Amino acid sequence: MLSTFIAVLLALSAAQGISIPQLDKIGKIGTQEKIFRFLAGNAPYFPYPGDYGIPSDAPEACEFTQVQVIARHGERYPSNSSGEKLFNTWYKLSNYTKAFNGSLAFLNDDYSFFIGDVNYLEQETTLENSANPLNPYTGEMDAKIHARRFLAQYSALLENTTNFSVFSTNSERVHDTAKYFIEALGPQYKVSLQVVDEEPSSGANTISAGYSCPAWNGDAYDNITEAFSDDYLEEIATRLNKENPGLNLTKNDSFLLFDWCAFEISSRGYSDMCGVFTPDELIKYSYYDDLSSYYTDGPGYWMIKDVGANLFNATVKLLKQSEELDQRVWLSFTHDTDILNYLTTIGLFDDGRPLNASSVPFRDNFFHKSWQIPMGARVYTQKFTCSNESFVRYVVNDAVIPIETCSSGPGFSCPEDEFYKFADVRMQNLDFVKACNVTSVSNITQLTYYWDFGTKKYNATLLDE
Ligand SMILES: *[C@@H]1O[C@H](CO)[C@@H](O)[C@H](O)[C@H]1NC(C)=O
Ligand SMILES: *[C@@H]1O[C@H](CO)[C@@H](O)[C@H](O)[C@H]1NC(C)=O
Ligand SMILES: *[C@@H]1O[C@H](CO)[C@@H](O)[C@H](O)[C@H]1NC(C)=O
Ligand SMILES: *[C@@H]1O[C@H](CO)[C@@H](O)[C@H](O)[C@H]1NC(C)=O
Ligand SMILES: *[C@@H]1O[C@H](CO)[C@@H](O)[C@H](O)[C@H]1NC(C)=O
Ligand SMILES: *[C@@H]1O[C@H](CO)[C@@H](O)[C@H](O)[C@H]1NC(C)=O
Ligand SMILES: *[C@@H]1O[C@H](CO)[C@@H](O)[C@H](O)[C@H]1NC(C)=O
Ligand SMILES: *[C@@H]1O[C@H](CO)[C@@H](O)[C@H](O)[C@H]1NC(C)=O
Ligand SMILES: *[C@@H]1O[C@H](CO)[C@@H](O)[C@H](O)[C@H]1NC(C)=O
Ligand SMILES: *[C@@H]1O[C@H](CO)[C@@H](O)[C@H](O)[C@H]1NC(C)=O
Ligand SMILES: *[C@@H]1O[C@H](CO)[C@@H](O)[C@H](O)[C@H]1NC(C)=O
Ligand SMILES: *[C@@H]1O[C@H](CO)[C@@H](O)[C@H](O)[C@H]1NC(C)=O
Repeated sequence: MLSTFIAVLLALSAAQGISIPQLDKIGKIGTQEKIFRFLAGNAPYFPYPGDYGIPSDAPEACEFTQVQVIARHGERYPSNSSGEKLFNTWYKLSNYTKAFNGSLAFLNDDYSFFIGDVNYLEQETTLENSANPLNPYTGEMDAKIHARRFLAQYSALLENTTNFSVFSTNSERVHDTAKYFIEALGPQYKVSLQVVDEEPSSGANTISAGYSCPAWNGDAYDNITEAFSDDYLEEIATRLNKENPGLNLTKNDSFLLFDWCAFEISSRGYSDMCGVFTPDELIKYSYYDDLSSYYTDGPGYWMIKDVGANLFNATVKLLKQSEELDQRVWLSFTHDTDILNYLTTIGLFDDGRPLNASSVPFRDNFFHKSWQIPMGARVYTQKFTCSNESFVRYVVNDAVIPIETCSSGPGFSCPEDEFYKFADVRMQNLDFVKACNVTSVSNITQLTYYWDFGTKKYNATLLDE
């Protein structure tokens, strides 16, 4: 499948006179997908690996009545801050005067750094800005394929709808993902993109509540996460320095090489840097990311349930109004942490067992951050009716994930009334505005964009973040 795709691209590039650098290496494209899930959500999209085998189509004799999607932007270049550090590590390597030995030997081979322009930092990868014209993992392509798959499954919900609204934050890459998705829906739909400001002044009227939460302290649980041994990073640096005398890589460089591996795949289609790591090192890195996310943006930090309640509450309200509202399809695009906050409030991946830093728990770890929010992550809320009864269910990255305490409906869905009770219990005592001290940055204490977009027309200026 992928090889056919590459063959077609090759033919096209040849026809257009585009030269493909390092042609001998393109055979690597598609061979690294097994490690995507160990790369902290920075590698290209992959479906949820813990699929229970429940089909995501409407169950037998049931019909969808509403679908909501909360999606992450697609594959991208590193952020400014990690990009700056990556450039410094690249300079260290590029200034090394001897030939490289060992797993870095690929750098001897006419290697060009994968970030071709500092202006690409923070941006979605596209066919245009990719380090390799054969890159199949662009954020652009991911959004377009997602849109076609969405239509294949849910187009009946758009049957009587020619114009409808889609929502995105005003982060440029988030906006671009929404734009590519909309383009791929095709010209028969007149979609108006509502660009909702993610600045703190938006208060509660946001798809990215974290930005409106001045009380959030990302370092609150450093006392736990810092206890995770970073010996593996030291070992990587020692190994590479030993193979390449005079190359003074530090453990911070080792940490960045994982980013290099992940982001290079989204830009070049493959990364030789991924060959530097042993499987054990990938597992430790991945678990460290689960651990730090759990205590920074997930179930391990009490405040996160309050943050995610802002969006969860709105989605529950949309479900309740599915009969009255003009739209049956609600598509919203945002950032990874916002989706993680939302999932934390729902509790889909919270089994109540706190993660600990003493070792990698295998049997006891249900919280795999990168499985929940890879690039292009997509959390669907399905509502369907089967002989006059309604049910609600979640689909995370193509896998149906039942609510543990409510799955008696068809396809392990939750009967609508029980779902609302479940939601009330999940949101008991939660208060986004109070927990986050939102009023210190904004007077807006309600999420209204799903209901007032018709009159307000959201069109916030795009931000490079
Ligand atoms: C290494 O190379 C870069 C550009 O190639 C240069 O800016 C930098 O000063 C050099 N030296 C070090 C120690 O990074
Ligand atoms: C579209 O309109 C027809 C005719 O009014 C109706 O029977 C059908 O249920 C509608 N479809 C949706 C998805 O609302
Ligand atoms: C569709 O367009 C009509 C006429 O412009 C407008 O009244 C209606 O609110 C729009 N519906 C949506 C869902 O945007
Ligand atoms: C870590 O810090 C938090 C507060 O930020 C505190 O509640 C918790 O008890 C501390 N845990 C440990 C193991 O010291
Ligand atoms: C190259 O690395 C190998 C181990 O991978 C080591 O045995 C050898 O001594 C190294 N050569 C040099 C010149 O450092
Ligand atoms: C590595 O460190 C040694 C000792 O501090 C120094 O002499 C050498 O120039 C450094 N090499 C590079 C490539 O920075
Ligand atoms: C290494 O990384 C840690 C964690 O990000 C940071 O606190 C520290 O300042 C870095 N050290 C250097 C020398 O850059
Ligand atoms: C949910 O929204 C309703 C209004 O629609 C509000 O009364 C309630 O406080 C909100 N709950 C949370 C947890 O935000
Ligand atoms: C809330 O914000 C105000 C104004 O910035 C500040 O004085 C207060 O300490 C903050 N409270 C909390 C709990 O963070
Ligand atoms: C909230 O509203 C008051 C009164 O309109 C205004 O003085 C204040 O600056 C506003 N605060 C914020 C954070 O926007
Ligand atoms: C958004 O729309 C309003 C009203 O049409 C207009 O005044 C404003 O300049 C627009 N803002 C942007 C960023 O386009
Ligand atoms: C990243 O850098 C660009 C260009 O310097 C700047 O416009 C943008 O605001 C930066 N974004 C962040 C999040 O720092």
